[in-house]
Amino acid sequence: MTAPQTDRLRLDGRSALVTGAGQGLGRAEALALAAAGASVVVNDYDAGAAAQVVAEIESRGGSAVAAPGDVSDWSVAEGLVQAAVDSYGRLDVLVNNAGVLRDRLIFNISEQEWDTVIGVHLKGHAATTRFATAHWRARSKAGETVDARVINTSSEAFLFGSPGQPNYAAAKAGITALTLSTAHACGRFGVRANALCPRARTAMTENVFGEAPEGADPLSADHVAPLVAYLASPAAAAITGQVFVAYGPMVALAGAPTVEKRFDASGPSWTLEDLDGALGSYFADRDPGAGFTAAEFYALS
Ligand SMILES: NC(=O)c1ccc[n+]([C@@H]2O[C@H](COP(=O)([O-])OP(=O)(O)OC[C@H]3O[C@@H](n4cnc5c(N)ncnc54)[C@H](O)[C@@H]3O)[C@@H](O)[C@H]2O)c1
Repeated sequence: MTAPQTDRLRLDGRSALVTGAGQGLGRAEALALAAAGASVVVNDYDAGAAAQVVAEIESRGGSAVAAPGDVSDWSVAEGLVQAAVDSYGRLDVLVNNAGVLRDRLIFNISEQEWDTVIGVHLKGHAATTRFATAHWRARSKAGETVDARVINTSSEAFLFGSPGQPNYAAAKAGITALTLSTAHACGRFGVRANALCPRARTAMTENVFGEAPEGADPLSADHVAPLVAYLASPAAAAITGQVFVAYGPMVALAGAPTVEKRFDASGPSWTLEDLDGALGSYFADRDPGAGFTAAEFYALS
């Protein structure tokens, strides 16, 4: 990403924590935040990968520290926020990105496969957010004007309910709700929280998107990173509680769920016969797969 020149797009004097930033989307996002002027705490489970990204940021003239560890551990998450405070005196931007897959159809999934994915994604987002928002609340209570950001990583798997990923789709749905809850609870002390559903060719998706084509890759993680840097910037102070889909040259804003059709009982309560009359006839005339279906999801890929 080319470094922005306009002040309201720059992050000079701000510090950002990016989880799972040792490779893939997190690495691209950490580099983009550093290019915009932020000092970056680079977290990853893999300490060597985190150190390499720190070296890359420093070689481009930026400032970064490595903070390896497992984000699904509450005390590690607390330590990551503390690492930003210790290194840069403050945290301003939290990018929750770390993730793993344990794909399995719901009727085959093991308890461990369920817990691992919910733990790294959902608990891993909640744990860092818990300590980052406490940090911002304390600064606000001390009289400071806080301008902070949480940028979470959801997925189209949540929007479309991908069949082989019940654990992952549920975790990403939870992350979306966590984002909205954080936006509502912490807006009054300067926090803006948004979620991203990215697509990129990374280690996680090598079996989905296959080999990169010759030349420029339309599914490069570098295409997603500018949106993260923008949402982190002062220019995005009015954006909160939103869900974006981003890949290639596209950013799409997801709409909130809406009521498709309302049914009213003829009396004070429904009878099963009345429900059958109302819902039965409605669904008889309607394609049961209408709306976002798995088929449509894969057709989009
Ligand atoms: N690539 C895509 O198309 C795509 C689509 C939708 C959502 N996402 C989401 O984007 C995020 C990044 O995915 P990616 O494609 O870059 O994957 P990736 O596998 O390339 O990178 C994930 C990184 O997270 C780190 N990590 C895993 N568990 C961790 C833990 N417990 N603590 C700290 N770090 C941990 C890994 O070491 C790795 O460096 C994930 O949350 C993923 O679910 C990706």
